[in-house]
This record gives sequence, C-alpha cells and structure tokens, in this order.
Amino acid sequence: MLKKLFSALAVVFCLAAPVSAQENIKKLPDPQTSGGVPLMEAVQKRHTAREFSAEKIDDQTLSDILYVAWGISHDGKRTIPTSMNKQNLAVYAVMPDGAWLYDAAGNRLIQVTAEDLRPLFDSQDYMKDARLTLVFTGSDPKNSPLHAGSAYQNVGLYAASRGLNNVVRGWFDRDGVAKALNLKPEEVIISQTIGWPYK
Ligand SMILES: Cc1cc2nc3c(=O)[nH]c(=O)nc-3n(C[C@H](O)[C@H](O)[C@H](O)COP(=O)(O)O)c2cc1C
Repeated sequence: MLKKLFSALAVVFCLAAPVSAQENIKKLPDPQTSGGVPLMEAVQKRHTAREFSAEKIDDQTLSDILYVAWGISHDGKRTIPTSMNKQNLAVYAVMPDGAWLYDAAGNRLIQVTAEDLRPLFDSQDYMKDARLTLVFTGSDPKNSPLHAGSAYQNVGLYAASRGLNNVVRGWFDRDGVAKALNLKPEEVIISQTIGWPYK
C-alpha cells in the first residue's frame, strides 16, 4: 500500500517537475588549455576585424572561446579576475539556434531562447553573416563592466591566436536583448562578435 502511495507521489512529482528539468542543454567538449601562439605574438596580433563569414564555429572552438572568456581555471575561480571573487558576470552565446547561457562549472550551454536574436545585433552591415556573438551581462554596475572588459580582452587574444576575427560592440539593440534574455537593460553590458574571415 505504502509502495503504491510512493509510486503515485513520484508520478505527481514528475509531472510537476519545474520547466528547468526540460532545459535544452548543449554539452561542450573540454576546453583545450594548452597550445596557441606565444602570448606576446597574440598581443601583437590582436585587433578589431569587422568581417565575418557564415562559416560555422565548431564546438571545440566555441568551448575554447567561452573558457578564455569566463571559464573556471583554478580553485573554482575564473580565467579572469573578479572583484572579491564575487564573479558577477554572465556570458551568453547568441547563435543561429538561439541564445545560450554559458555554465562554466558544467562546461555546457543552457538555452535561454530558441529564437535567433542576431537581428538585434545587425545595426552594422558587416554583421549579416556573423554566427556567434557573446553578450556580457552583470548586476554590479561598478565591477561587472570591468569583468566584461577582461573577458573580451581574453577572447580578443584567443581570436588573434586562432586567426578568428572579432569586434567588441556597444552598438546593438540593448533593450531588445535585455527583453529576450529576461534581464534589466542596465545589466546588458557589451557584446563581442567572433567569426572566421571570408576565404
Ligand atoms: C567598449 C567598446 C565598444 C565598442 N563598440 C563598437 C561598436 O559598436 N561597433 C564597432 O564597429 N566597433 C566597436 N568597438 C571597436 C573599436 O572601434 C575598436 O576596438 C577600436 O577602433 C580600436 O581598434 P582595435 O580593436 O583594432 O585596436 C568597440 C570597442 C570597445 C572597447
């Protein structure tokens, strides 16, 4: 009798499971934490390049980009320093198949929306084919923008090391992005588009 009751409760519990149990998750390959060009060469090569082909960014490269931006590298801490280790930053990947929140601890992406948000970033025509835009967000008005700056610099250096193009972008539909990501407009700090040049 008790067993039947538990089974019934289990069914009810499963039916009432929060939406998060049905989250769309994209597991990423482990980031490559060695290799690349020497640091001084990457610093020398880092530059803004506003040209993005439609060539896909493979999952390994995506994982590496997210890791340099906001991965966990030591003692639960990040690849960038954060004020009092409060880690007040979030990184979203906007791609053709929707917008995804980077979960560094799980090395995965959690889909926030399946909508293609790239039109919110196409105020400049070089964006039309771009497949990956990172959005840096945070709720600490003093420190989150500083963290975003560290993250986009790491990504810029990685891009230089890999021959990827990138541009940091403050000019996009901030309100539209905030709405789509369910954030306050002031939490949306900056974006960065990354992609392969045309061949
Ligand atoms: C905070 C910030 C916002 C930027 N916003 C834009 C932008 O909206 N559109 C754009 O084309 N470039 C943007 N840039 C790129 C700068 O124009 C570029 O970094 C600058 O011209 C220096 O060139 P470099 O990156 O090659 O050194 C931005 C850069 C930063 C740091």
